[in-house]
Amino acid sequence: MGHSGALLQCQHLGGRGIQGNSFKVSLVFRVQDQLGLRRRPCLKNMNGFEEGVEFLPVNNAKQVEKRGPRRWVVMVAVVFSFLLLSLMAGLLVWHFHYRNVRIQKVFNGHLRITNENFLDAYENSTSTEFISLASQVKEALKLMYSEVPVLGPYHKKSTVTAFSEGSVIAYYWSEFSIPPHLEEEVDRAMAVERVVTLPPRARALKSFVLTSVVAFPIDPRMLQRTQDNSCSFALHARGRTVTRFTTPGFPNSPYPAHARCQWVLRGDADSVLSLTFRSFDVAPCDGHDSDLVTVYDSLSPMEPHAVVRLCGTFSPSYNLTFLSSQNVFLVTLITNTDRRHPGFEATFFQLPKMSSCGGLLSEAQGTFSSPYYPGHYPPNINCTWNIKVPNNRNVKVRFKLFYLVDPNIPVGSCTKDYVEINGEKFCGERSQFVVSSNSSKITVHFHSDHSYTDTGFLAEYLSYDSNDPCPGMFMCKTGRCIRKDLRCDGWADCPDYSDERHCRCNATHQFMCKNQFCKPLFWVCDSVNDCGDGSDEEGCSCPAGSFKCSNGKCLPQSQQCNGKDDCGDGSDEASCDNVNAVSCTKYTYRCQNGLCLNKGNPECDGKKDCSDGSDEKNCDCGLRSFTKQARVVGGTNADEGEWPWQVSLHALGQGHLCGASLISPDWLVSAAHCFQDETIFKYSDHTMWTAFLGLLDQSKRSASGVQEHKLKRIITHPSFNDFTFDYDIALLELEKPAEYSTVVRPICLPDNTHVFPAGKAIWVTGWGHTKEGGTGALILQKGEIRVINQTTCEELLPQQITPRMMCVGFLSGGVDSCQGDSGGPLSSVEKDGRIFQAGVVSWGEGCAQRNKPGVYTRIPEVRDWIKEQTGV
Ligand code: ARG
Repeated sequence: MGHSGALLQCQHLGGRGIQGNSFKVSLVFRVQDQLGLRRRPCLKNMNGFEEGVEFLPVNNAKQVEKRGPRRWVVMVAVVFSFLLLSLMAGLLVWHFHYRNVRIQKVFNGHLRITNENFLDAYENSTSTEFISLASQVKEALKLMYSEVPVLGPYHKKSTVTAFSEGSVIAYYWSEFSIPPHLEEEVDRAMAVERVVTLPPRARALKSFVLTSVVAFPIDPRMLQRTQDNSCSFALHARGRTVTRFTTPGFPNSPYPAHARCQWVLRGDADSVLSLTFRSFDVAPCDGHDSDLVTVYDSLSPMEPHAVVRLCGTFSPSYNLTFLSSQNVFLVTLITNTDRRHPGFEATFFQLPKMSSCGGLLSEAQGTFSSPYYPGHYPPNINCTWNIKVPNNRNVKVRFKLFYLVDPNIPVGSCTKDYVEINGEKFCGERSQFVVSSNSSKITVHFHSDHSYTDTGFLAEYLSYDSNDPCPGMFMCKTGRCIRKDLRCDGWADCPDYSDERHCRCNATHQFMCKNQFCKPLFWVCDSVNDCGDGSDEEGCSCPAGSFKCSNGKCLPQSQQCNGKDDCGDGSDEASCDNVNAVSCTKYTYRCQNGLCLNKGNPECDGKKDCSDGSDEKNCDCGLRSFTKQARVVGGTNADEGEWPWQVSLHALGQGHLCGASLISPDWLVSAAHCFQDETIFKYSDHTMWTAFLGLLDQSKRSASGVQEHKLKRIITHPSFNDFTFDYDIALLELEKPAEYSTVVRPICLPDNTHVFPAGKAIWVTGWGHTKEGGTGALILQKGEIRVINQTTCEELLPQQITPRMMCVGFLSGGVDSCQGDSGGPLSSVEKDGRIFQAGVVSWGEGCAQRNKPGVYTRIPEVRDWIKEQTGV
């Protein structure tokens, strides 16, 4: 026991030492010192204790024998006192270590000194003026904290980092050492906006009137920066000139890893700043530890004054212009990764502060927008528009574009930025909507709080005759006017479906949904929920415990995903998520090693499913260079680099005729019907064609980034039928290989078993006609359409659909490809965000008509042929 007690003590001390935790070691030693034991057990050998308490001459054997029982008592006493001491030591450790625990916390804040005037020298933190005012502010803060019981005792120090105009705003951080249980209370006390008047005190502290004193806990990742000035920059806008700044090394070398950088941007008093990121490419946003650029509407990095947080790569057309509410901005860059990205290039300039926004609008019609639209509106602003149209008319406001998104609030809660009109608040991202008033007046109020701004809104107001708001037309509840014959036709034309409410269905060709909508009869039981409440698909389902095939057949559940095509159309094997090697069929994915999987669409989905990994090979495709695309600003213009596989084919002397897609450096996919000879032109001759890659605007074919290629040969599918358009596909070999860039990249080709299920949203792109019988587009257009089930497709276009064809569009019409889009790709975003080519634009009856969706060549059906011909 004695031994083990001593050993325990020894290990106790030594063990803590080994951990290298000096705090704990010193505490333990202090306890020992107080107990007077002074590490003795460890300095001696293991017998030290027995020797120490024996005090007897070892050679007196008799005495030793006689005193045997006493020695026992002593030993027990020693052990006892030892236990007691250990207990006390433990208690002391607990007392000092846990009861006295403090957490270090830093708050960032600003305050306004209303009875001081700004001096230019305050911009320079080494000037004597700065130093003197800073030390007074520090004194003032100390004094102020000392009067708040929950702050005073724990305040360690404060540091002033900058000043700006208005009268004088001081930016500072304050450090506290607080007991954990007070943390929340301290946070709350610091976040209270204070107004304090400090009377003149001893030691040159003048009387200070401080307003808006407020501070928030600092992002711990910023803390490091406060000690390091190597990546800190201060810039002041001069006159009307534009000042440029970039991340270190931009664009030739990546910005530093694990860095903390900041740019203090200033303008003159009474100006505001407009800051634009011209190029932005930092590591992709993933989770908490990604690289991050933050813009603050303050010179303190206070989260509640963050205007935006940016990561990832933005396409050049994304609007990244931000406005400040005062004459300062702080831009910070925190990097937590070793990823190599060039960073950003930004510019800023000053402009006079807006004296007011909003106003009286009294024409019969007009437009208005949020301040600085389409730049991000400034934080902390309120605008009111009073709209007044002639007395005998009513007024309505149409919001054409509307982006008031705050990442930190639940969608629809409108607690931060909003537009208020007719007593209703609108916020978030909305597609076009109308608000009408039943008088000649309407008031629109816009509010932006002090954090997170967006691009705002663009609106127009119109006056209308209150007795006849939609002359000759039907008026939706939302105020939109639509053609009268669209009422009760089964298609929702009003955004709120009001044209399809309270209808009587035509029994011969319509079905009445439970929610009272009328829908075409042939949509019943087509596996698509057309009613919205599922009632058109009720009663079509298979009995419990069975599975419904896409062709309507019912099968026992056990036959689903068993590797056999029991439905006859493969649908029971199409979307199995459990990956099993199964016997190979037409519906199973075949790995390179010959084994087959029953997982739906396993290729390039980021998961290795084949044991040989072949499903994830050759996956350098289907990704864009930009992680952030511009939001649609009017129409459906595509963005630069958004569809980097889209190709424009020009025929000699005729300009753009067809689209195509890039599938490898050497090969394009297009439609066979584009290369059918006519008497006046030999379209099958490859020398007649030029392919433009990386093109967005047909009028800018010589823009940088655009690649012009001649063709080496054209291979049309041998089974192409120019009457039925069956097998409408062609392969074009480029004379010289394409060079991949941010705007030129290949699309992924799906496996021959890949399924694009009915209802899936897919993008179609091209420079074709924007209207039936219209003209081609200059800027590449994009439209989102949906896969239509094959049975419906065959019913809509009877006797015309082959298994190589797929209907994609909206039965309600409206969005479709058209003349000139032929040959272009259908881009389908699949698992892992990769884009696969689902089809090739082939034909249609007219364009965008109701019940006449576009028809596309199914790529999986011709996948093997493509591989045979190109090796891709
Ligand atoms: N054949 C047309 C072309 O040559 C494409 C028509 C697509 N039509 C449609 N409604 N989706 O460009």
